[in-house]
Amino acid sequence: MNKKLNVAIIGHRFMGRAHSNGWKQAPKFFTLEAEPVLKVACGRDKQELRKFADNWSWEEISTDWESVFEREDIDIIDIATPTHLHHEMAIKAAKCGKHIFCEKPFALNLQQAESMLEAAQSANIIHYLNHNYRRCPAIVLAKKMISEGKLGRIYHLRSSYQQDWLANPDTQMGWQLDHELSGGGPHIDLGSHCIDLAHHLVGNISSISCLQAHFVKERRNSNNTKQPINVDDASIMSVEFDNGAVGSFECTRYASGRKNRNYFEINGSEGSIVFDLEKMNELEYFSSNEPSQEQGFRKIIVTEPNHDYVKNWWPPGHIIGYEHTFVHSAADFINSIVANNSITPNFQDGVNCMRVLDAGNLSAKTGQRVSIAH
Ligand SMILES: NC(=O)c1ccc[n+]([C@@H]2O[C@H](COP(=O)([O-])OP(=O)(O)OC[C@H]3O[C@@H](n4cnc5c(N)ncnc54)[C@H](O)[C@@H]3O)[C@@H](O)[C@H]2O)c1
Repeated sequence: MNKKLNVAIIGHRFMGRAHSNGWKQAPKFFTLEAEPVLKVACGRDKQELRKFADNWSWEEISTDWESVFEREDIDIIDIATPTHLHHEMAIKAAKCGKHIFCEKPFALNLQQAESMLEAAQSANIIHYLNHNYRRCPAIVLAKKMISEGKLGRIYHLRSSYQQDWLANPDTQMGWQLDHELSGGGPHIDLGSHCIDLAHHLVGNISSISCLQAHFVKERRNSNNTKQPINVDDASIMSVEFDNGAVGSFECTRYASGRKNRNYFEINGSEGSIVFDLEKMNELEYFSSNEPSQEQGFRKIIVTEPNHDYVKNWWPPGHIIGYEHTFVHSAADFINSIVANNSITPNFQDGVNCMRVLDAGNLSAKTGQRVSIAH
């Protein structure tokens, strides 16, 4: 592997660490057509950046991301910043002709999303949107089983993404609770993951009704002053798919005891599947085609070498975790750049997702069901 691709990342906290680990582990566990080089880490705080760069072996640091984007030696821009910056950064990266690895939610709204897609398409770059759960081996298996017709005609998707870090009203304000920076609450943050998986596994959504809740009206910020909360605290969506299936989604940060439960159940004419991120190495499967007295949900442990991504890790039967999905994403992204092939999910998927989420916001505001045209 002689080819190298230089990465510049912006953001050095949660996703900064998850992505750095992804870039570093990918060539150690997967066959890559090029080696990602951790070239420049960008952010605002030099001291924090220095610590981060030293820990993850980023070669350089910079507090001026725009000039880094303009450097000829940079191949990939990795956007790991709060959502309000994705638009400006992706447009600039595309204009500079860089391949883009972008965190979700894609943008603050559909308008931003469409201009980001247009910029990426005109620049002819490889663009990736990090809905990393598509790269859980159990979800890859779910997709395969649905495509092979194991579930038959799909009737229902029952999806929820539940966390509990805001259940305590005294929890401090953060950028995630400021609409200008985040674009919304769990509706966009967690809902974007759910809608992306729904598109991936079931199909396009044709209409939506949405109800949003606001439980806590103000919280203290880091200056210990009270600030009004202007994002939703929970979002309940019910949708219709083009193929006639119906779906429900519940996204919340107030589900006491549910830490990071990205859960879905899909029911079809021939069977059902169930996934729960808190048990991410498992996929539950019910087949209507087994003898009736033996029917029941069974648990597939998705840790065998013939499950996607798994053979690159440990001997059969050894589980993997959240961070592995970022390694899978980094590996696939690098190989798609070298092959000059598009990768999914990408900015088009981001637009599709934002269209549904924006329609959900409109529905919550007006109390009306909203149709979605593709
Ligand atoms: N895929 C996932 O599972 C997942 C999980 C969590 C967060 N996210 C997404 O990742 C993105 C980042 O979230 P996070 O949790 O890492 O946030 P974070 O608050 O932990 O980190 C944000 C980083 O962005 C930097 N930053 C903020 N403003 C900046 C600016 N103007 N210029 C340069 N750097 C700036 C901060 O210094 C910090 O390093 C968000 O879009 C979030 O929704 C995705």
